[in-house]
This record gives sequence, structure tokens and C-alpha cells, in this order.
Amino acid sequence: MRRIFVINGPNLNMLGTRQPEIYGRDTLASIESDCRTKAAELKLEIAFFQSNHEGEIVTAIQQARGNFDAIIINPAAYSHTSVAILDALLACDMPVVEVHLSNIHRRDEFRRFSYVSKAADGVICGFGKQGYLLAIEAVASFFK
Ligand code: DQA
Repeated sequence: MRRIFVINGPNLNMLGTRQPEIYGRDTLASIESDCRTKAAELKLEIAFFQSNHEGEIVTAIQQARGNFDAIIINPAAYSHTSVAILDALLACDMPVVEVHLSNIHRRDEFRRFSYVSKAADGVICGFGKQGYLLAIEAVASFFK
């Protein structure tokens, strides 16, 4: 069975109550639960991770090598700042899909650029929770 690692960056643990007009009312736990259902349908194994710390995310990406077959990542605010996360993803040697709940191109100017996109095979933004499920489908199609 192929294994997918879903990595979530800072403040995504606050989903549900964090600016619901932008990010919706789904909690990260409910996103995780829907991702698990979708992965099971597609016969994929899944692990879910969230951290508010850049270094922990870098370490998680490094440790994915050999343990997972693809990464789905919502780097949250680190998308717009982190060369360290970009470098870790460039070295991970597996497909990467970047996800954002909101449409980052319709928001503040500084959110329109993502360092991480340079390491991503594809980017999904603006579809809320559905974006994670679309990313799982995209990863499944990579494995066909
Ligand atoms: C986000 C968009 C980022 O700009 C923001 O900093 C986040 C969440 C999204 O999922 O829409 O924390 O990645």
C-alpha cells in the first residue's frame, strides 16, 4: 500500500474558530477524518501531522524519505517565508502536492507568492477542505 504524509503548518490547529469567513468551520480533526475516509477508498495509507514550528516541519519532511511515497502539505504562513521547507521538499525525492484552504491569489499581495510551490508537482487552493481530498485523488493518480 502506498503511504501519504499530510503535513500542516502553523495555526492550522486553530481551524474551526480561526477566521471562519476565510478558512471555513471545519476543524483540522474533521479534515483529517475525511482524508482518512478518502485515502481508505483509494487504498492509500495516510499519516497526518501538524506543527507550529518550522524546524519540526523540516524534520518531518526529512523523515518522510523512505517512510512515505508522497507528501501533501499545507505549509500555511511558512509558504510565504520558508526557504528551509522548500529545500527539505526539494530533497524529499517523492511527489509533493501543496494545498491551501483559501485562494491565496485573491488575498493579500504577500500571500500570492509561495516558496514551496517550486517543489510542488501541483498546487490546489481555494476549495477549503475539499482541496485536501482533491490532493489525495491527485496523488492516487500519480501512482497509477
Ligand atoms: C493558508 C494560507 C496562508 O496564507 C495562511 O498563512 C494560512 C493558511 C490556507 O490554507 O489558505 O495559515 O495556507
